[in-house]
Amino acid sequence: MDQVLVAFDLYGTLLSTASVAKALAEHFGEDQANSIAQLWRRYQLEYTWRLNSMKKYEDFSEVTRKSLHHALAEHGVSLDDEQADELMKQYDNLSTFPDVEPALKKLAANPNVNCVIFSNGTKSMVTNSVRSSDDLKPLGDVFKDIVTVDFVRSFKPAPEVYKYLAQRTQKTGAESSMWLVSGNPFDVCGARAVGMQAAWVDRQGNGWQDKLGGEPTAIVKSLEEVEAAIEKFAQGKL
Ligand code: 2OP
Repeated sequence: MDQVLVAFDLYGTLLSTASVAKALAEHFGEDQANSIAQLWRRYQLEYTWRLNSMKKYEDFSEVTRKSLHHALAEHGVSLDDEQADELMKQYDNLSTFPDVEPALKKLAANPNVNCVIFSNGTKSMVTNSVRSSDDLKPLGDVFKDIVTVDFVRSFKPAPEVYKYLAQRTQKTGAESSMWLVSGNPFDVCGARAVGMQAAWVDRQGNGWQDKLGGEPTAIVKSLEEVEAAIEKFAQGKL
């Protein structure tokens, strides 16, 4: 197999954004915390898409903070600035999904695979996560680079951010040899739209429901299946 560039999405793929519910539960109790965490994530993504549509940009930490306040307000609750700052810090210490460690260790040992992180987060958010997250810190060496969209000032799934990934990894014109690994269907569609391969991580086993086109090259139930999927594709068996 030739050298393959594998770009891992961060939030929702390596790190569970739902894990922030633990910190929210200290303020609002478990049930409400889970509901706030879900709505927070929904608005976080919705804000990025709305900014893209308006051709505006605010960095992902601002988007994350504003969407938190939106989700809280819809639940009829609020936090002061200091409490919100504390929650934002949780974003540097989200938990990884259980399949992350074994899968990344296996990929790190494969000389044909070059792993990078590719995220909507700002360089400082993502670097903090990789350096400070108790779960991700020991795996930081697996990634040869951290590619973030703040340089492009646009969010996934805008084509320019995937093209920037190709440029940063010296793959412009060879997008079809690159892989995105993501748990976010909209991210998978974005990568497929510029001709990249994409593995969608379907941890819940619900199957691909997105109807906008741009189906994943491979659907995996766990990150541990990614390596085999890439090899299968290289052998023309996918
Ligand atoms: C990320 O870019 C989409 O939140 C996701 O990390």
